[in-house]
Parts: sequence; C-alpha cells; structure tokens
Amino acid sequence: MAARLYGPDFAARPEATYQALRALGPVAWVELAPATPALLVVDYSACLEVLRDTGRFSKDSRRWQALNQGHVPHDSPALALMAWRPSALFTDGPEHARLYTAITDSLNQLDPHELHDTVIACCEPQVEEFGPRGRADLVTDFALQVPGRVLARLFGCPNDVGTRMVRGVNGLIDATGAEAQAASQDLSACLSDLVALKRDRPGDDLTSWMLQHPAALSDQEMVDQLVLLVGAGTVPTASWIASGLKLLLGDPRFAGSLKRGTVPVQVALDEVLWRNAPMANFSIHYAVEPTTIAGTSVPAGVPLVISHASANLQTHHLHSDAIAHNRAHLAWSAGPHACPAQDPATAIAKTAIETVLDRVPGMRLTMRDEDVPYRPGPFHRTPASLPVKFDPVQPSARFGDHR
Ligand code: HEM
Repeated sequence: MAARLYGPDFAARPEATYQALRALGPVAWVELAPATPALLVVDYSACLEVLRDTGRFSKDSRRWQALNQGHVPHDSPALALMAWRPSALFTDGPEHARLYTAITDSLNQLDPHELHDTVIACCEPQVEEFGPRGRADLVTDFALQVPGRVLARLFGCPNDVGTRMVRGVNGLIDATGAEAQAASQDLSACLSDLVALKRDRPGDDLTSWMLQHPAALSDQEMVDQLVLLVGAGTVPTASWIASGLKLLLGDPRFAGSLKRGTVPVQVALDEVLWRNAPMANFSIHYAVEPTTIAGTSVPAGVPLVISHASANLQTHHLHSDAIAHNRAHLAWSAGPHACPAQDPATAIAKTAIETVLDRVPGMRLTMRDEDVPYRPGPFHRTPASLPVKFDPVQPSARFGDHR
C-alpha cells in the first residue's frame, strides 16, 4: 500500500515515512490525499535531477493524466495547490522566464530597511491584541496573521483592499470545494481592483513595479501572479515563523540565549530549513515522456512531488554546526522555479520573531515541545498551535516609540 502523506500519523512522524520510503528507492508511490496518488522523490540527488532537467520534466499540471481522466476526486484537498492556474508556478521555458523575471526584478526593488519597519508595524497590532491577556497561541494569534498583512502593505493595498486580501488568503487555508472556490474568487476580485488602481495611480510598491516591468504583463497576468505571490508567501512564511518560535522557546539549546537576551534567531531559522522545511513536499513536476530517475521507472503525466524535507534529512547528520550558514538544503527548492523571495521571506520571518520576543519577554510554552501538534497535509510543515504564557504586557507602556 502506498504511504499516506496525510492524517495524524504522518503529521506526528513524517521523518519515519521519509526514512521508510528512502529504503525503497529514490522515488516511491504515495497518496497525497484519499485517491490522489503521486510519486514522491525522496533522494537528494534525484530531487536535483528533476528540478534541473527542464527538458524531461514540466511544471504544467494540465499534464496530470489521472486528473484529466476523472480518477482524482474533484474535492481532493491536494487540488488547492496542484490544479493548474495561469501563473509562473505552472509554466516552463521562456513563458516562465518572462513571468519569473517580472517577479524577481520587482522583489529586488524592496528596500530592506523599509521592509523591516513594515514587518514591525504589522506585528504590533497582534501583540497589542494578545499582550494584555498574558497568554496566546503564537500560531493563530501571530504567525498566521503577520505574513498576509506584510504582503498587503508591500503590494501597496489601500486599507479596505488589504483587509479583503488578508480575508481571502485566510479563507483559502484549510478550505476545500465550494468554500475554497469562493475564497479564491474573492481574492482574485480584490487583486483585480488593486491592479486597476495601480494602473491608474502607480505608487512605490510591488504591484506598481510589476506593472511597469518591461515584461509588460496584462492586467489578467498581473492578477494571476499576485495571487501566486500571496498564496506562495503566506503559509510557508507563517510555518517558518511558527517553527522558528517553537525551536527558540521549546529547545533547551536555545533557552539559555533567550534568558541572556542574545537570541540567535537566524541560527534557529536556518535549522528549521534543514529539519522542518516549511514547504516539506512540493515543487511538483510531470515527466513529459515515460522515463527513469536513478533507475526507477517514471510514467508520463504522474505528479512527481519533490520531498524537500526528505532530501534535507538524508543529506546531513544535522549537527547544528554543519547546519549553521550551510545553504545546501532544498527548502527553497532549486533550478528555475526556486523561491524568488528568499531574501524578503527571511527578513519577514526574522523581524517577526525578533519583534514578538522583544515585545513579550518571558514567553513560556505551556505544553512540552515534543507534544506540539502539526497541521495535517502533505505540503506544508506547520505547528498547529503554540500555546504560551507570559506576564501580561500593557500596550501603552510598550509601543509608544514605534507608532
Ligand atoms: C514573502 C514570502 C514569499 C513569497 C512572496 C514567495 C513567492 C514564491 C513564488 C512566486 C514562487 C514561484 C516561483 C516559480 O514557480 O517560478 C515560490 C516558489 C517557492 N517557494 Fe516561495 N515565497 C515566499 C516564502 C517562502 C518560504 C518561507 C518558503 C520556505 C522556506 C518558500 C519556499 C518555496 C519553494 C519550495 C518554492 C518552489 C515551488 C515549486 O516549484 O513548486 N517560499 N515562492
């Protein structure tokens, strides 16, 4: 029976599944959701082979034969991330290069200092909200809130559009079927309003820079790429923030530095990329013709899911010294579709964690680190909740100098 990448057992111990699959070979059959089979690439070199060989492997999910033949249930939760959309994620070759350049060139225009201040400004309302309570769930009250708010600001959303965008993205998390479709339509509608607004009155923001890019994206192309940016940017960054906080608050190796106030946030974030890649399994490709990967037969048109998590766990013995500053992990993927937002995502995660640790000193996890549950599902690796207690923080006393 194919290994399941869903359900409580997988969420609790994914490493055991990866290890068992690696023992079978570089590529193994799995189920992403009920009746949604795929091949999982679990070996580091095999992952690179697929990610780099753009002639043999395509990102276009319209090649997914089982879906085209009606064998995948129409409400399979895997479809939320796998169904084809007209965005860079699902294109190949020159079509991809054109969209990807517009995205990366615009992201490169972000000013690191302004981004830092924006992230702090997006963290503060959250901390103000839960600070006086003396307890919080750092996943739902913080990690899942901050990235969407930051992206809304980077896109240059006026307040009402920003609120709609954050609501649309949050509506997509965990939604399936009609609910997911409605949230996705709301998101596209609000981003379409944003594109119209920025065509009319450009500003100093990502949306305007993308509109002005020589790639000359149409309004519809703009909306599709913004949907990709916000979808690709929200949950993985939230997962990274949550896993980083879990490590800093729950792992005795970091407890001492928290007390001394010399918190190595970047070290913790690097460790998460190696041990708990936020996009654990993704970068889905389809063989254009029947082929082999490291000797294993691979039919055409079957989703080939890259296990960034398995590849990372296999490669290194994960001593902390070997991990720090070592960027050979596959958490950002590799090849032409590697995450174009590595620098801004790092700035968002690092600043968000530093801000909450600074504003709410003395946070203590109220469950054992090893009991922290993870959200189910094959693609993201996200703590489901991170309950903490602390001495209540009065907003007026803490935030005066940052408003
Ligand atoms: C501000 C936050 C982020 C933004 C705006 C963003 C944006 C994007 C975009 C637009 C792509 C598609 C690139 C393409 O197909 O050519 C992408 C891919 C990817 N991103 Fe990010 N990302 C963010 C954060 C993250 C984080 C925190 C992680 C995990 C550490 C991550 C991991 C990935 C991976 C693995 C891919 C490859 C996906 C694939 O090929 O299917 N991203 N990202």
